Amino acid sequence: MEPAVLFKNGWMFIRANLTAILVSAGTVLSLGAFLWLFYMPPAFDIGPEQPIPFSHRVHAGVKSIDCKFCHPYVARSVHPGIPPVEKCLYCHNYIIAGHPEILKEHAYFNAGNPVPWVKANYLPEHVMFNHKRHIQKEVLCEACHGDILSMDRIKGVRFKMEFCIACHREKKANLDCWLGCHN
Ligand code: HEC
Ligand code: HEC
Ligand code: HEC
Ligand code: HEC
Repeated sequence: MEPAVLFKNGWMFIRANLTAILVSAGTVLSLGAFLWLFYMPPAFDIGPEQPIPFSHRVHAGVKSIDCKFCHPYVARSVHPGIPPVEKCLYCHNYIIAGHPEILKEHAYFNAGNPVPWVKANYLPEHVMFNHKRHIQKEVLCEACHGDILSMDRIKGVRFKMEFCIACHREKKANLDCWLGCHN
């Protein structure tokens, strides 16, 4: 067959079966979209991807490890502390020691590098925040950080001033935010 005839036949075939073709294309596309959403849900509701998929749900939730075991300075210092890899290995030298993600920990440890955790929470730079007074007054971690026990990846909170103020008003804490919270 000559190319021109071939082209004409092809075109006639498409016109004759247009509906069928559109329907099957639509089906394939929506099936694809469904599979994509099912297997790789876009990260609307979870925090940033971390270098090691550390899960608060598993550690603080299922295994009930105390927050302060890993964030020991939360009641004393401006910096709650993010656990160094030694602290992970304290358990993981024995627990699932051969797991590929645990081998990654060893790689960081042997290279003498801290794990480059991605920070999830941000405060505007002019806001001073200190956990100390809050923990002393027994404000729960969840009051500000949400339900950490159910989070695999920590979802950051965009702290707004109204959020701080609302609770300060309720608990009769300092409302003079210019002196208390801004520098
Ligand atoms: C007090 C002990 C303890 C400490 C400290 C600890 N873990 Fe774990 N971790 C566990 C236990 C228990 C499990 C569950 C093991 C299992 O599934 O059998 C686990 C599981 C894991 C897993 C696998 C989770 C999965 O989905 O299969 C990873 C990855 C992990 N831990 C990383 C870390 C990192 C990173 C640190 C340090 C920031 C850390 N762990 C600190 C006890 C600990
Ligand atoms: C086994 C160690 C471990 C335990 C237990 C643990 N954390 Fe963490 N936490 C980490 C590590 C590692 C990071 C940094 C990686 C990440 O964000 O997941 C972190 C990060 C965080 C962050 C986010 C910091 C930021 O801004 O990026 C918050 C908030 C936090 N933890 C709160 C808690 C609370 C509340 C608990 C107790 C309910 C808790 N953690 C228990 C190890 C732990
Ligand atoms: C009154 C609100 C509030 C409470 C209660 C609170 N936090 Fe926070 N937390 C914050 C804010 C705001 C930040 C961000 C501070 C910043 O980026 O400087 C933060 C940051 C953190 C970080 C990250 C620090 C870093 O260096 O990246 C960790 C870890 C953390 N909180 C753990 C805890 C734990 C554990 C508890 C409970 C024992 C707790 N927080 C209770 C408001 C709170
Ligand atoms: C869930 C309740 C709650 C939330 C949310 C909260 N606070 Fe507080 N805050 C308190 C309480 C309670 C105190 C303790 C007051 C006291 O010691 O008498 C306090 C004390 C403080 C102090 C010390 C005040 C002083 O008198 O020296 C500062 C600063 C502060 N908060 C800043 C913040 C900032 C910034 C935020 C928002 C990121 C925030 N707080 C969110 C409850 C809260």
